[in-house]
Amino acid sequence: MDKSAKIEYNGKSYDFPIITGSENEEAIDINKLRAETGLITYDPGYKNTGHCISNITYLDGENGILRYRGYSVDELCEKKSFLDVVYLLIFGDLPSSDQLTKFQNDIREEALVDEDLKKIFKSFPRSAHPMGVLSSLTSALIAFNPLNETKISIHDKKGITEDDKMYMSTVRLLSKFPIISSWTLRKIKGLPLNYSNNKLSYTENIAYMMFALPNREYIQNDVITNALNTLLILHADHEQNCSTSTVRIVGSSYAGLYASISAGIGALWGRLHGGANQAVIEMLELIKNDGSDIDKYISKAKDKSDPFRLMGFGHRVYKNFDPRAKIIKKAADQVLNDLGINDPVLDIAKSIEEKALNDEYFIEKKLYPNVDFYSGIIYRALGIPTEMFTVMFALGRIPGWIAQWKEMRDSNNPIGRPRQIYNGPTHRTIS
Ligand code: SDX
Repeated sequence: MDKSAKIEYNGKSYDFPIITGSENEEAIDINKLRAETGLITYDPGYKNTGHCISNITYLDGENGILRYRGYSVDELCEKKSFLDVVYLLIFGDLPSSDQLTKFQNDIREEALVDEDLKKIFKSFPRSAHPMGVLSSLTSALIAFNPLNETKISIHDKKGITEDDKMYMSTVRLLSKFPIISSWTLRKIKGLPLNYSNNKLSYTENIAYMMFALPNREYIQNDVITNALNTLLILHADHEQNCSTSTVRIVGSSYAGLYASISAGIGALWGRLHGGANQAVIEMLELIKNDGSDIDKYISKAKDKSDPFRLMGFGHRVYKNFDPRAKIIKKAADQVLNDLGINDPVLDIAKSIEEKALNDEYFIEKKLYPNVDFYSGIIYRALGIPTEMFTVMFALGRIPGWIAQWKEMRDSNNPIGRPRQIYNGPTHRTIS
């Protein structure tokens, strides 16, 4: 029997259908709310608002569950490569070995970056934040790969379909984004820029482009490759978070994939979102340099009059442990142990977690460590500068942004255009 919700308003009664997802989540469908009642909803930050029906990622905030196309992230981290997961998110199923080989080869085919794009890159000051550089260069990719942004004429004899265009845009971005990301790291370190080594796996190649030094043999380090594989998989998608919703709403105006992802990079940069992993390490360093007085900072975080927040804690959806934080915490211990590193900020992080999880304020507000709380400790151990941490987040999130943008485009969603309640001056004339 179809379920519905009743709204009583102005002496009239209205029924709106309830829609139910594959995991039995329910929503009131208010598509006709304004037409029938004249009302709109008011929901700052969209805390109670769904803007799409999606088949990509399922997360259950109460039970700390995260699955990509039905597979749990912990199983994917254990058994699959990041490129497997990229394919899963974008095409809906894990690839056969032939499909993966073709996908990897098509990506390798695109592993060149126009030398004029390198000139743009080199014009940025060394002090530029890499997220700003990446957002600009991703947008600049449009100019160097026009196929993605101009509609192929239906009279085009080459018969390139929209699906062909989408596939080419996908493999080009998956190929070039890691290259330009590695350039931002190498620029910070004053190293010559690197290109892809097509003999390596996708994740190994990222490590190679970031860490290989000129005139020295590059030796793969499995600890680094495995840690990167886990981190990239855990960051690959997260349903309708701030940056993914940005990618979707920009794409809903029929802006191209690269323009949409460039906007998503900007959204991810914010310290309340992907920028939190950089903010966590800066916070831990601040506490360490202030005599590791953890109680003082826990009190500051609870003090409404104090702007200090415990970065890496809290989440819009998870009101339990972020399943990614658990996996990353274990990986952090493993990486530091394998690399023989003793990082005092890890001990501070663990002490903060222990105190916060036993503090009434955090318990009552259901604030737990999120994906950003421990990830920076691993990036630091790998020798990645703090300002690069959100770039690492973006490297993982690229496939999620592509998959979500493609789903939005394929589902012919209307252009995103929220409403408002106007509360400014009523009509007045110039005196
Ligand atoms: C990511 O959405 C996603 O999926 C994002 C992400 C992804 O994979 O894409 O998971 C990645 O962005 C993780 C979050 C990283 N951000 C941080 O770690 C920054 C610190 N956290 C907060 O700023 C906050 O928790 C948010 C932004 C993450 C969530 O904010 P909400 O959902 O808007 O919740 P809120 O700000 O309304 O907080 C509810 C209460 C408030 O107190 P009251 O007004 O009810 O008294 O909890 C308090 C907040 O003051 N609170 C915190 C806190 N986070 C929330 N108090 C102290 N420290 C914190 N970190």
